[in-house]
Amino acid sequence: MTTPPTALNVAIIGTGVIGAAWASGFLAAGHSITAFDPAPGAEERLREQVKNNLAVMDGGQAPAADRLRFADSLAEAVTGADFVQENGPERLEVKQSLLAEIDAAVPRPAIIASSTSGYAPSEISTHAASAPERIIVGHPFNPAHLIPLVEVVPSPSTRAEVAEEALEIYRSVGKKPILVRAELPGHVTNRLQAALWQEAYSLVDRGVVSVADIDTAISYGPGLRWAILGPLALQHLSGGAGGMRHLLEHLGPPQEVWMHDLEQVHLGEGLKAKLIDGVDDELTGRDKEAMTRQRDDMLLRLLELKADFDQLP
Ligand SMILES: NC(=O)c1ccc[n+]([C@@H]2O[C@H](COP(=O)([O-])OP(=O)(O)OC[C@H]3O[C@@H](n4cnc5c(N)ncnc54)[C@H](O)[C@@H]3O)[C@@H](O)[C@H]2O)c1
Repeated sequence: MTTPPTALNVAIIGTGVIGAAWASGFLAAGHSITAFDPAPGAEERLREQVKNNLAVMDGGQAPAADRLRFADSLAEAVTGADFVQENGPERLEVKQSLLAEIDAAVPRPAIIASSTSGYAPSEISTHAASAPERIIVGHPFNPAHLIPLVEVVPSPSTRAEVAEEALEIYRSVGKKPILVRAELPGHVTNRLQAALWQEAYSLVDRGVVSVADIDTAISYGPGLRWAILGPLALQHLSGGAGGMRHLLEHLGPPQEVWMHDLEQVHLGEGLKAKLIDGVDDELTGRDKEAMTRQRDDMLLRLLELKADFDQLP
């Protein structure tokens, strides 16, 4: 396995919500950033967002922001880069041309990672002629300056060392990466979320519960446990002395009935209206910015707490 150098030159291409979060994470870990985004005012927005993120992450880190440079062009941003993180808009043709442009400009052996939420690396690298085997997906989760998970998805033509090195680089900036061994729409974690959203939307559509009830059910129920242990390890604990085997033998048959009863939903206008009105009802009188701040504060405390418990993976 390749060990990443202590200080990397990281190019951040696209500096919206996710690009700014990546820039903050790499800066906080001691790396240098060169960023590029063609939108007017992008540099000011990035600097403001990075300042805010760093203040949340580690009480300021003023020197870290000094290692952030904004380039005038994509080619300038990737010159001398050891690692590129692409965060442009989630549209296939935009990703394809952006990845081709980056691939043509960035010197080898730099790795090119895309934050794409759902496209496969083979799909987005179709126009990258120089070295598509060093292109991977490195998919983060919002708020990406705080959530450790990153999904690393190689394509069939990605060299194994590229995925290994990307995993190592993400670990070195405090992330918790997983390797996804097949290209699937939505990778892995968005598919898990989609399974839950599908049933939540269906239950709301059928009038079984309200939107607020769904949110209470998860955030005061299994969601509390899921932040501590994953859903499969939790089943092992729920199985008592017999662990996972007992759990599957005892509750597996009814679980299969529930799984087969799940309904597909279509996000038509009627269902969308129920979901939008339901969230509005649930959150009446609450301030969205304050909620975001409190979510981030609690996340940080939770992460600190998790680090104190050595028998939990
Ligand atoms: N927002 C999320 O929750 C989330 C989570 C994980 C991954 N992602 C993925 O991250 C990527 C970025 O999403 P976002 O939410 O930050 O979007 P965003 O709209 O906030 O940012 C996209 C940025 O790309 C810039 N851009 C447009 N054309 C460009 C070009 N040619 N070169 C460089 N930059 C260009 C835009 O100016 C904009 O600042 C997407 O692929 C998205 O799927 C988003």
